[in-house]
Amino acid sequence: MNPKFNPLFQPYTLNNGVEIKNRLVVAPMTHLASNDDGTLGGQERTFISNRAGDMGMFITAATLVHESGKAFYGQPEAVRAEQIPSLKETADIIKSQGAKAVLQIHHGGKQAIGELLNGQDKITASADEASGTREATDAEVRSLIAAFGNAADLAIQAGFDGVEIHGANNYLIQQFYSGHSNRRTDEWGGSREKRMRFPLAVVEAVLAAKAKHGRDDFIVGYRFSPEEPEEAGITMEDTFALVDALKTRPLQYLHISLWDFYKKARRGADTDTYRIQLIHERIGGKLPLIGVGNLYTPNKILEAFNTGWAEFIALGKTVMVNPDIATRIINGDEDGIQRAVDPEQTDRYGFPDRLWNFTLAGTEAWLPPLKGQEPNLLDL
Ligand SMILES: Cc1cc2nc3c(=O)[nH]c(=O)nc-3n(C[C@H](O)[C@H](O)[C@H](O)COP(=O)(O)O)c2cc1C
Repeated sequence: MNPKFNPLFQPYTLNNGVEIKNRLVVAPMTHLASNDDGTLGGQERTFISNRAGDMGMFITAATLVHESGKAFYGQPEAVRAEQIPSLKETADIIKSQGAKAVLQIHHGGKQAIGELLNGQDKITASADEASGTREATDAEVRSLIAAFGNAADLAIQAGFDGVEIHGANNYLIQQFYSGHSNRRTDEWGGSREKRMRFPLAVVEAVLAAKAKHGRDDFIVGYRFSPEEPEEAGITMEDTFALVDALKTRPLQYLHISLWDFYKKARRGADTDTYRIQLIHERIGGKLPLIGVGNLYTPNKILEAFNTGWAEFIALGKTVMVNPDIATRIINGDEDGIQRAVDPEQTDRYGFPDRLWNFTLAGTEAWLPPLKGQEPNLLDL
């Protein structure tokens, strides 16, 4: 390995004593390939079978916690005890490659897909006509919180090393924190403090599951999106307040969701400064931060890590295209690392069919580019 990459391969000990062997993390990636009952699918097995090698942590695809929140075809589930064997197989596949296995726990809220909900209503903080979602009753709010605790319990029983609470990307938890999506006037909405109650109650439910099993070593992380574009939506100021609250909880890490590591703040903070830098300063060393976003070569990954704004670097599209990227860096094979999908090399990637077809269509900006259509070719 070129010694300049050494910093990426330094271990990190979390505040509960668990050592993560290096600073590279597989970003959570929905693969659309679980079975209809939420258990591990054949193509899902292939997709996760070789992407955790030489990585420190592998965060799974967003995994459903409650029937009312299914937001993807082929979404994995941690809803019922019968799903434990399947979850265990997922955890084992990841752990056998030497990475920590972290289950991302999720509810889609208004982004759920009606026909996948087995007749249940779509519910979220406040009614949303456009998506046909109604306001959750107080009892439902409490059952949603409990569902996250239950999913963490199932993850522990299945042998996962941890869970990541999916509070990002405009799904249920973010919908409760957002002044745009949450217009409730009861205890779950109104002031910023009240909007924060749902995310913090989810954290408490997950921590209670961990305590119930006496598992200090179980990792609990929280992912958030720092800003929303809507007038009444989340601003950097809101996110600072959330971070202030989260950093007082016995969590192990925070994970910012960004499509671009170097995105600058939009509102509620210095707009000439990078979001991740501001968040990292705000955390003040209380918890490690995972950074992410468009880091598609070893040099880009190193450069981002060397900013000092993230203790870990997560890779999504780069790991889609290069399942063995960490091993290639270790072996000094930087030249073998691709930054776009070559449609001729289906076997190299092992994508599930749905993901492969979306990628080949080349119309989804969130998926890796196709060979010949890479942006910023000069920006290596
Ligand atoms: C195929 C795909 C699926 C994704 N699914 C999830 C998900 O389930 N949960 C999540 O928090 N983020 C998800 N993301 C976002 C990634 O975790 C990551 O934040 C984003 O891709 C930016 O990082 P990158 O530029 O390294 O890909 C997904 C991204 C991709 C490309």
